[in-house]
Amino acid sequence: MTEVAAAEEDAVPTDHLVVLKSVNKHFGALHVLQDIDLTITRGEVVVVIGPSGSGKSTLCRTINRLETIDSGSIVIDGRPLPQEGRELARLRADVGMVFQSFNLFAHKTVLENVTLGQTKVRRVERARAEERARELLDRVGVGAQADKYPAQLSGGQQQRVAIARALAMGPKVMLFDEPTSALDPEMINEVLEVMRQLAQDGMTMVVVTHEMGFARSAANRVVFMADGRIVEEAAPDQFFSAPRSDRAKDFLSKILHH
Ligand SMILES: Nc1ncnc2c1ncn2[C@@H]1O[C@H](COP(=O)(O)OP(=O)(O)OP(=O)(O)O)[C@@H](O)[C@H]1O
Ligand SMILES: [Mg+2]
Repeated sequence: MTEVAAAEEDAVPTDHLVVLKSVNKHFGALHVLQDIDLTITRGEVVVVIGPSGSGKSTLCRTINRLETIDSGSIVIDGRPLPQEGRELARLRADVGMVFQSFNLFAHKTVLENVTLGQTKVRRVERARAEERARELLDRVGVGAQADKYPAQLSGGQQQRVAIARALAMGPKVMLFDEPTSALDPEMINEVLEVMRQLAQDGMTMVVVTHEMGFARSAANRVVFMADGRIVEEAAPDQFFSAPRSDRAKDFLSKILHH
């Protein structure tokens, strides 16, 4: 490709990996997602912050269809979210998710945890799946733990296994919902470091977190939610130094000065 063609390609704004349009969701009378419009570009790292109950987890869960929506649309890499069946299983593999609680299979070894989805959903041959699992476990710094069971690992190690397990599926985008909230302080950084590396390697990421240091250093964009709405979005520097909305100012003053 010539430089001009490359520059033109860079300029084309069609590289939209996750597109939410007018998404609404209720839990009974509670309007938990209100007209959410959000476009995430390939390679972008979006940090979602906001008060408890503002809808951050629900937003993440709709993106891989752990929750259905009432209206609007969600398109991943050009395709609307599938309703069910094998298409849905494939979508779940394309959209990796890491939760606050590590959600590893307790009765499977670490290696099996990272191998299983590959063989079952991606139909990768077992030996290759194990090879890839070991590579990924090394990459997140827990290669030596491959034959242990999750309960034999620290929280930080378990969370890194959970990240490796999601990565093993070759996801297009990774969703993180407060991945460090359940961890002891000394383990938070080892998980954030893995996430930082992933961001640097170009993974598209949506991260719900209270770790403002991570947001500042790794995010391309901060999305601030309150009461089921996206109230404000901006580059991290701009958001943290000059939030525009009163809700964001109030929220930041509480979390940054406690
Ligand atoms: N399955 C459910 N049934 C009914 N209400 C729910 C359900 N899940 C969430 N809610 C409600 O929806 C609102 C948004 O919840 P959500 O978990 O998305 O918020 P959040 O921003 O992730 O909060 P937190 O920071 O505490 O994790 C809350 O009022 C919550 O009580
Ligand atoms: Mg939540």
